[in-house]
Amino acid sequence: MTKEKIEKLIAQLTLQEKIDMIHGCGCFTTKGVERLGIPPFKTSDGPRGVRKEFETTKWKEIGLSFDFVSYLPCNTALAATWNRALAYSTGRLLGKEARGRGKDMILAPGINIMRTPLCGRSFEYMGEDPYLVSEMVVPVVQGIEENDVSSCVKHFAANNQETRRLDVDVEVSERALREIYLPGFEAAVKKGKAKGIMGAYNKLRGTHCCHHDYLLNEILRKEWGFEGITVSDWGGVHDTKEALLNGLDMEMSVTDNFDEYYMAEPIIRMIESGEVDKKTAYAKIDEKVRHILNVMNKLHMLDGERKAGGYNDYEDKAALRQTARESVVLLKNDKEILPLDRKKIKKLLVVGENANRQHAPGGGSAEIKSLYEITPLLGLNMLLGGNTEIIYKPGYFNEDIGNIWANTGDNENGQADSLNQDNNTTQSSPEPDVKAKSEEKKRRQTEMNEIYRREALEAARDADAVIFVGGLTHDYDTEGQDRADMKLPYEQDRLISELLQVRPDTVITLVAGSPVDMSAWLENADTLVYSWYAGMEGGIALAEVLFGDVNPSGHLPETFPLSEKDCPAVALGEFPGGDKVSYGEDIFVGYRYYDTYDVATAFPFGYGLSYTDFVMTGIRAEVLEDTAESKSVKVSFDVSNIGSRAGAAVAQIYVADKCPKVKKASKELKAFEKIYLEAGEAREVSLILEREAFTYFDEEAHGFKVDAGSYMLLLAKNADEIVDITEIEFKNS
Ligand code: BGC
Repeated sequence: MTKEKIEKLIAQLTLQEKIDMIHGCGCFTTKGVERLGIPPFKTSDGPRGVRKEFETTKWKEIGLSFDFVSYLPCNTALAATWNRALAYSTGRLLGKEARGRGKDMILAPGINIMRTPLCGRSFEYMGEDPYLVSEMVVPVVQGIEENDVSSCVKHFAANNQETRRLDVDVEVSERALREIYLPGFEAAVKKGKAKGIMGAYNKLRGTHCCHHDYLLNEILRKEWGFEGITVSDWGGVHDTKEALLNGLDMEMSVTDNFDEYYMAEPIIRMIESGEVDKKTAYAKIDEKVRHILNVMNKLHMLDGERKAGGYNDYEDKAALRQTARESVVLLKNDKEILPLDRKKIKKLLVVGENANRQHAPGGGSAEIKSLYEITPLLGLNMLLGGNTEIIYKPGYFNEDIGNIWANTGDNENGQADSLNQDNNTTQSSPEPDVKAKSEEKKRRQTEMNEIYRREALEAARDADAVIFVGGLTHDYDTEGQDRADMKLPYEQDRLISELLQVRPDTVITLVAGSPVDMSAWLENADTLVYSWYAGMEGGIALAEVLFGDVNPSGHLPETFPLSEKDCPAVALGEFPGGDKVSYGEDIFVGYRYYDTYDVATAFPFGYGLSYTDFVMTGIRAEVLEDTAESKSVKVSFDVSNIGSRAGAAVAQIYVADKCPKVKKASKELKAFEKIYLEAGEAREVSLILEREAFTYFDEEAHGFKVDAGSYMLLLAKNADEIVDITEIEFKNS
């Protein structure tokens, strides 16, 4: 449909029809205009697959079988693959199933920066580094949108905690905003051509992000040229006038009084009362409708042939399995206990509740009604077959359901409940009756733990091998709640320590969506494997890694600090904060802080081992372009696999300014490549670094700037392991 035709459509719409297009007239949908052939705009969560179906206008689960879908690896898992092609295939499947379910927009991906390890939604995001996020989000968006369905990149912006998520007011310097919190969104818009952006719940510098003129009008539209739809987070709008004027296109919420949404009847009343100038209001409403119609047009919703989408097929399953495989991070293998040799293991003991737990139904709006979910215990059985006796002992007791949003009885609207301010807390301050209940729960927990621990320790003595699978659940990694600390729940530290005493060769495996404190036993563990909520194929992928069918190649997308106290935001007392949170750590987020200020960590950003050894060397660089507007540097190096197995290395290039004119992090990731090599194979790799790789945000000039001078290019295996260095010089600023 041409632009002129869209304008004609707008001219034919009544005010009421327009209003119905710009606010939710259902839990996840707007109203269409049948007489003009405009369909409703249907959305669905979320980042790990297409969420279960609700009734159109009631927050009630439909409860039929057509909404069983693929459960995708969470975004942290995806980021841990450092593989852009897998980001694309994951996005493509998400888009395909969204269309298969008749949706127009999928409320994904989530890309907020992991400012602290405690944010309850870290698992939905892609870690701590803006460059890694930017590189991974673009193929996800492209993959989604290839299916004639819109992405909705969320949550814009500075939404880095769940505590008081509806009203916390974030103070952050312009430089940190631009260098840390916005690049992922900018890449999604400029390179990925994302058609949807979701506003965040929180405030930024005093104004709610869902109707924030600076964010939505100035940065998103004017600076970045965004042409899509801005959608509020569900219940994220608080003011009709601001929503009308400040760049929000579509208001969605969690209650069913749809006519009373801020961008519904209240707009009409405001116009009638003269509180807003009628002409301005009409123009603004037209603008919103225009954005929506433009996107509908691009998705072939108004005319032309639209892709139909589909559900999980063999190819999709294979891609999901590969993503899950490549997301597994081998953190320790000191005595080369891994990979395990199935021929030598007749009796395998598996300990830990996460071995047997399905995580798809948890986490808040990221919950999934998965077609299936292969747990680690099932995966091990699938891999090893009948010649190995597999004994399972939970080892610790966890009666949590793994989903604080679960619909229990008549309480159908878990989503609205989750917005209750009391629920948006860290896990440290329960009310008195909740406290009593939780004490009773604790007592039972301790009692049962005792029994389960004893059983596991006894069984460990005469098994040929012991695999522990613990970690977190979606009672911890969840929407609406931050963690109080990084400790493993359910007395796992004690169980792991005692297991390691009985069986020092125990393979420790953790399944979680964010970093945990391992200090109680880390030194005593020879092996440590980190797996995320890795999707429906996660359990078999993990088993394949443990038994060497797959050589691990995942790398951490975030630093694992020794304790949350080392995290700068926590150390500064600026997490979770009160009604205001000041990002005092500024640009020093994640490794930018640990590195620059020499703070020891458990595992650095970018870390991940393999069953083979890679040598990376010979870094050399050539400045191809050096003008004020444009810079380009070709960097080359050699990678060889000197071990006896095929595997994949992740070469990381960090940039360090030799004589910074402003305070800078000691280095920043600016390029990476995942390189697959057969045993004994060697390859030369060349990458191009553009101007963005050398810029910083100059607050005075209000723009990104490169200073003339010398820059070091560091070839690294992770943020702490630099293997080679070269230098370049720019003559022009
Ligand atoms: C979440 C969003 C989600 C929306 C719709 C909100 O509570 O913050 O990420 O897409 O609900 O379910």
